[in-house]
Amino acid sequence: MKNIILVGFMGTGKSTVAQLLAKQLNRVLVETDTVIEKQMKKSVANIFAEYGERGFRKLERSVVITISHKKSLIISCGGGTILDKHNLNDLEKSGHLICLTASLASILKRLEGCKNRPLYSANAASFEKLYGERQKAYAFVKIQIDTDNCTPQQVVDKIIEIVKPSKNKDKNPLL
Ligand code: S3P
Repeated sequence: MKNIILVGFMGTGKSTVAQLLAKQLNRVLVETDTVIEKQMKKSVANIFAEYGERGFRKLERSVVITISHKKSLIISCGGGTILDKHNLNDLEKSGHLICLTASLASILKRLEGCKNRPLYSANAASFEKLYGERQKAYAFVKIQIDTDNCTPQQVVDKIIEIVKPSKNKDKNPLL
């Protein structure tokens, strides 16, 4: 089975939705940030502090190379993973790539008080700017799901509907 990969800005609900999705579909969950943290035995914030964003992106790239060769996973990516075109390509090839979106207002509400996201704790103005700049990168993903006004379960239901093989496709390989 193809992987189901969630991408999107911080606070769009990737981790929560991925956890629910993995449970519901009985699949293994892989979170790129968690893999990196386990490998390095350090938090993402500490990796940023010690090796800079560049160092973090290198680790992220190597995790994507490994997991995109696997099958049947539910993958939750860090918000910046698909800024690297190679990551975007590899993930696209490895399964259903889905971008979760949300308005800046919803994201700010969801992330309020969050301490472990180095790019969030920077400052409000730069975070807002980053949100704007990232939209171009996320627009490359064909499947987009707006999570504003949706519960995580509603987002899961939408994903399941999207990835469900259509009966017609099964019968006629040309469809
Ligand atoms: C980042 C998002 C974070 C984490 C790191 C960088 C980003 O993941 O990978 O702090 O560049 O948007 P979440 O999207 O899970 O917060």
